[in-house]
This record gives sequence, structure tokens and C-alpha cells, in this order.
Amino acid sequence: MLLTNARIATMATPDGYGLIDDGAIVVQGDRIVWVGAMADLPAAHAAQDATDLGGRLVTPALIDCHTHLVFGGNRAGEFEQRLEGATYEQIARSGGGIVSTVRATRDATPDALLRDALTRVDAMIAEGVATIEIKSGYGLDRETELKMLRVARRIADMRPVTVRTSYLGAHAVPPEFAGDADGYLDQVCIPTLHAAHAEGLVDAVDGFCEGIAFDTTQIALVFDAARALGLPVKLHAEQLSNIGGTQLAARYAALSADHVEYANDADAQALGQAGSVAVLLPGAFYTLRETQMPPVAAFRAAGVPMAIATDCNPGSSPLASPLLALNMACTLFRLTPAEALAGLTRNAALALGLADQGRIAPDMRADLAVWDVTEPAELAYRIGFNPLHTRIFGGTP
Ligand code: NIG
Ligand code: FE
Repeated sequence: MLLTNARIATMATPDGYGLIDDGAIVVQGDRIVWVGAMADLPAAHAAQDATDLGGRLVTPALIDCHTHLVFGGNRAGEFEQRLEGATYEQIARSGGGIVSTVRATRDATPDALLRDALTRVDAMIAEGVATIEIKSGYGLDRETELKMLRVARRIADMRPVTVRTSYLGAHAVPPEFAGDADGYLDQVCIPTLHAAHAEGLVDAVDGFCEGIAFDTTQIALVFDAARALGLPVKLHAEQLSNIGGTQLAARYAALSADHVEYANDADAQALGQAGSVAVLLPGAFYTLRETQMPPVAAFRAAGVPMAIATDCNPGSSPLASPLLALNMACTLFRLTPAEALAGLTRNAALALGLADQGRIAPDMRADLAVWDVTEPAELAYRIGFNPLHTRIFGGTP
């Protein structure tokens, strides 16, 4: 496949868009083999039948590196409670929140979970997404955690999308272990990690380090189990308070620390030294009407790559639009549009440990998005507008 007459945001430079005007891309099989200015196109490639993109913008396909999009039920009632003044933490402590989705997810059949998840996946694909990370964590028992991960894997058989799964058994303490978080970790969470790994269902291990979830000592037990299995880790850290999750994630050379609104300068430096990504989740910040901004300037100063994701989940971020996340990252967190787009491409790939995605360059997977815009900043600037023209998945339109 030869794509010509394109404006290409390669995202392959350390900063900015890596723009190529009047560009061409050559794809063989599922790989990009050449990208550059049309004037430099080697004669051997020029012989192919070309698809003229009419000056449209081409970017790497989008990567949503943090979602919980397999779940039962919904939490519209909690939205109403919060509008009447209840906080996210109050709702969680009174038996709602994550635990209410756990009940609905335990009750749902795999087919019902799959059907509901596909509506969210389809919305993302329609906005140019080619890779989605999906977490477990609404089962909190062996059977339901495995059920969630199997459903997540089935999504990749049903739709042209790459799925990466994260085991989030340490998401909350289930009601049957109320007051005994250590018992839950020892008897259910860690044994279930072993079972899920043995079934080939786990790409990474995640946790929720927070006052309403698990402390750093408890998360370290889960990370030790991950390390023993050779699995990378990531962590929901410093979302509602600072209890040291980001430092812990850095000590385990985590792929990413996510949310991180309450992270400080020292946390940013630790992530920078560890080479971990800061995953910013503006949909959760917006939904919870958070006012503490993530330390973006400190992340820049420490050279921490920043990714952006939807955090698609029924509680804190009922958001299935990566384009809206792009806009929110700029408007709410003051990222530049180039930083935000890197957050949904190049840096999202880093946060998933995917070395061959997120950039338009030779040998990378040919996951591309063609947009009906010419300026890359337009993708972030518009609200509620989807200019996707074509998505190419592994070389296939
Ligand atoms: O990323 N922070 C923890 N987990 C999710 C929320 C899950 C929920 O409320 O159902 C998050 O915000
Ligand atoms: Fe999350």
C-alpha cells in the first residue's frame, strides 16, 4: 500500500508532531516500510498503485492505555448522589463505588459483558483507536476476575483492535473480606494472578494505592508476585491523596503511574529516573470535579513522558471518547496539543511497553488514522467532533 499526498504527524521525534508535508507512507503487510516527503519516494515504491489522501492529516492510530471498559451495570445513581453533595470517597466507604460494579459484574454473563463492552470499543474505534488496554478489577474473586480477562481477550477476536490486559485484582477489598485486606490479597488476589497468568490472560499487573483501597506495603506484595512471574507493573497512584504510590511504582520500574494529581516534585523525579510514564486521566479529574492539577511542569522538568487515556469506567470516568480526553488534557491540564497527541500515541505505547506502536516510522506496525483536518492541533481543539476519515489497522483499511 502506498499512501500519497498526506500531511503526516509521525510523532517519531522526541518533541512535537514530527510533521512531514506532501508526504507518503509505504506499507507492506502489517508494517510501515517507508515514510517521507513524496519528492524523496524511492522509485521502486513509486511504481505501486497509490491512494491519494488529498492533503489530509495522517497520525499513528490512537492508543487508549488505561481503561476499565469490561464491567456490568452502570452507576448513574451515584452520579445523582454526587450532584446532591456526596463525594466519591463517601460513596465508596458506604458500599457503593467499585464494590457496586463488582456485584453487577459478578452477576453478568460473559456474553452480556462482551456485548456491553463492544459498544464502548466501537465508539473508540470510530475515533481512530487501534490499541486498548483493559483492566480486570470488578470481579475480586477468582471466577469473575478470570471471566473479565477472558471477555477482554475475546474483544480482539470480534473487532480489528489490539487488546492489552492488566490484572487489577488489587482494586478494592470485596465485601466478603471487609476489614481484612491482607486476607484478600493472600487468599484471593495473588492466587488469582497466578491462575490468570497460567491461562495467558495477563500482560501487566495494576493496583489501586489509596486510602479507600490498598497501602504501599500491600501493593508491594502484589508487585513482588508480578515480578516473580516476570510481569511488568503499573499503578493507580496519588489520585485522591499522596500516600507514596508513585515512589513505590518507580522503585518497581513500573511501566506507568496513573492519575497522579497529588504527586509532587520528588515523585516526578522518581518517575523520571525510573523511566516510567505518567498517565493523565482528565475524564476522572472532570467527573470528580477534582481541583488538584497533576504536576505537569514537574513531569516536563524531570523528562517524564506523559500519556493520556480515557480511564473508561462506570464510576469516576464514564468516558469512551479519546478525542474528548485529548481536548480535556489541553483545557484542564494545560498540555500543548502536541503533548496531548503524543499522550495518545507515542507515550501511550510506552505505557503499555509496546515498542512497535505509536509512531509512524519504518518497522512500526501500520496502525494509522487519516483525519479530515490539516492542522494536528484541530484534533484537540474541537469538542464533540469526530473528523476521522479512515482507520488503518495492521495495514488493512
Ligand atoms: O481509575 N481509581 C480507581 N479505579 C478507577 C475507578 C473505578 C470505579 O470508580 O469504578 C479509576 O478512576
Ligand atoms: Fe483507572
